[in-house]
Amino acid sequence: MKVLVTGGLGFIGSHTVVELQNDGFKVVIIDNLSNSKIEVLEQITSITGIKPQFEEFNLLDKPKVEAFFNSNKVDGIIHFAASKAVGESVERPLLYYNNNLGSLLNVLEAMLVSKQDNFIFSSSCTVYGQADVMPITENAPIKPAESPYGNTKKIAEDILNDTTNAHSLNAIALRYFNPIGAHPSAKIGELPIGVPQNLIPYVTQTAAGIHEQLSVFGDDYPTPDGTAIRDYIHVVDLAKAHIVALKRLIENKNKTALEFFNIGTGKGSSVLDVIYAFEKATNKKLNYKIVPRRAGDITEAYADTTLANTELGWKSEKSLEDALGDAWRWQLQQK
Ligand code: UFG
Repeated sequence: MKVLVTGGLGFIGSHTVVELQNDGFKVVIIDNLSNSKIEVLEQITSITGIKPQFEEFNLLDKPKVEAFFNSNKVDGIIHFAASKAVGESVERPLLYYNNNLGSLLNVLEAMLVSKQDNFIFSSSCTVYGQADVMPITENAPIKPAESPYGNTKKIAEDILNDTTNAHSLNAIALRYFNPIGAHPSAKIGELPIGVPQNLIPYVTQTAAGIHEQLSVFGDDYPTPDGTAIRDYIHVVDLAKAHIVALKRLIENKNKTALEFFNIGTGKGSSVLDVIYAFEKATNKKLNYKIVPRRAGDITEAYADTTLANTELGWKSEKSLEDALGDAWRWQLQQK
């Protein structure tokens, strides 16, 4: 079995390539290195002992996408390639709509023309906005997006819905909660460009002395300790969800042409919970201060994972401490 992984050198993509290869799949990666490094290919090879096929090009280059699909037959496509910085998307919305939706359209069109099936899409819990009920099920209402980035995920789900209705194409959209951590080998992990916007890279960089202090954005939320709550999932657990979702499509076990699954742990952790868990996992004290809320942040989001548990037979296995320990070991590898 051969699988195309777009964005396969990125954070979640690289961990998914490792799990695919560990499971016996042949992998071909398309990545334009816009937010990843070619060294990741060597690191994947060193973890699994197998070098994946690698094609470097931009998925906005339609003739190249068509040529690829005409000369490569795959059993499934896992589509990660996208821009993902929420703040940047507010400043450069057209870049985000163009990149994230243009590449999706090119891949879907080429799949239809070359009669290839089985599409796994990286969606996000951002489509739920601030959900009214916790934990969040897949039936929770979709709320207006908080950012152009979030809107590209919502629109992409709509595109998949219309396309799977009109054509013989099967797809699963995985709605990720907050992916964190790194591979236990510390050979692959998250590579934030510039100052990280996300909590865990900022935590590990602060502990490493790159930043003096972590800012905790708000302690006046209506939560037990006043800080905001998220569902932090280890990237290796998240990667494994893609394998079971892909097998479901390959084995024709899907119940509808497009299915949605929440991929999280089901457990909500506050920012202070994360800080204490990091200190426990690493034996390091973290310098932090409470500052006002960050604009656009929601109070809480954590998943009801019942559907993924029962339908995919998937469940997260690693703890928050495991993820933070792995993120720290990865940080220590960085120069
Ligand atoms: N936080 C801090 N200090 C920091 C960074 C973050 O206190 O320096 C807090 C945030 O306020 C939030 C929590 O830590 O309460 C998590 O923040 P992240 O930026 O790590 O994650 P978000 O939940 O804000 O964002 C994530 C993904 C986005 C996605 C969004 C909504 O990173 O891609 O969820 O689904 F759009």
